[in-house]
Amino acid sequence: MTQLAGKHIVLGLSGGVACYKSAHLCRLLTKAGATVQVVMTGAAEQFITPVTMQALSGRTVYGSQWDAREPNNMPHINLSREADAMLIAPCSADFIARLVQGRADELLSLMCLARPMERIPLLLAPAMNREMWAHPATQRNLAQVQADGAQVLGVGVGDQACGETGDGRMLEPEEIMQELAAFFTPGHLAGRRLLITAGPTFEAIDPVRGITNHSSGKMGFAIARAAREAGAEVTLVAGPVHLATPRGVKRIDVQSARQMFDAVQRQADEADVFVATAAVADWRPASAAEQKLKKDGSGQVPALAFVENPDILAAVAQSPRAQSGALYCVGFAAESHDLLQHASAKRLRKKVPLLVGNIGPATFGQDDNALLLIDDQGSRELPRASKDELARQLVIELAHRLPAAR
Ligand code: C5P
Repeated sequence: MTQLAGKHIVLGLSGGVACYKSAHLCRLLTKAGATVQVVMTGAAEQFITPVTMQALSGRTVYGSQWDAREPNNMPHINLSREADAMLIAPCSADFIARLVQGRADELLSLMCLARPMERIPLLLAPAMNREMWAHPATQRNLAQVQADGAQVLGVGVGDQACGETGDGRMLEPEEIMQELAAFFTPGHLAGRRLLITAGPTFEAIDPVRGITNHSSGKMGFAIARAAREAGAEVTLVAGPVHLATPRGVKRIDVQSARQMFDAVQRQADEADVFVATAAVADWRPASAAEQKLKKDGSGQVPALAFVENPDILAAVAQSPRAQSGALYCVGFAAESHDLLQHASAKRLRKKVPLLVGNIGPATFGQDDNALLLIDDQGSRELPRASKDELARQLVIELAHRLPAAR
């Protein structure tokens, strides 16, 4: 997550079982290149020790406004001034209430109050029992802290330490990292709606067999994540892949090319950009057997007849909205050689304004890739990098090519 490299984050822990997750969060932040200043409330220290947080952050942990180690004896001023953001995780119901009241009787809430608001954003990752979360007092307080400028990252749903199940869990550290990355990403695609296809398709032969390919879906998922981080509203139509849904992305799972086609047709009217990264099977068995094809010992093999699948990208690119420029279409081409020549021809054949070429064997299943962008102005290479990094660069390239937002 290059967005976090060089950032200075004040990580505040208030009292909650989720403090154990903040140790991992601290580790992820430092691994991403951020410096982390941990500040803990007395209640947080009941759940996890400052020793752990000091070892993970590599910095002295602060917990008291009376800490005399600061030469001017003002840790609340010194610690808050150099931050690029303050993140309170876990943020307890009590801590939210304290923020609402502007309490300043312990170091962490004092720092939130004393920070220069226009320069240092405050992000909150709440964590509490579901009844506490749903209580009108908490909801009222959440509305107020947001009105006062804090950004609330939301909560997870699921099993809680108390044994109950519901809303109020702290987001997982990886989810908080995604939220932070988005927070530090310029909103190149703010207000845009992206529809993305990703992964392979699976074309059934019978109930247990089928035809598919080696596409991992990683490039499409990386684009979905980068677009979301850049402020877009993203719908991801995914073939059978083993990837987690990027945070904040609406995902529609499909199997076959025809299911992918139908899902895309249903969503396309609501999109401003269509990015087709899926490796859609060109053909499918003419008819899928209802029962498993059995080997009968005669040595006879089944004869498979194929029919062509719909070309999803070409169909969308020919729609009136795409033709009028209201829907910007991006195709991908996986080639094995002569990338520029083949990808340029594909751009014209599919009638899309932007085609992104890559070398198939060098990208399928890999975590990195190299891209060649081809539009009516010519071509541009995005050299080999991680798919996440390439996706971020592609998002910026895309933003430059879109008509000005209405
Ligand atoms: O024709 P070819 O498969 O090489 O084209 C690749 C591009 O077209 C990719 O963007 C892919 O997602 C899209 N495509 C599609 N539907 C198909 C075949 C390809 O959307 N049936």
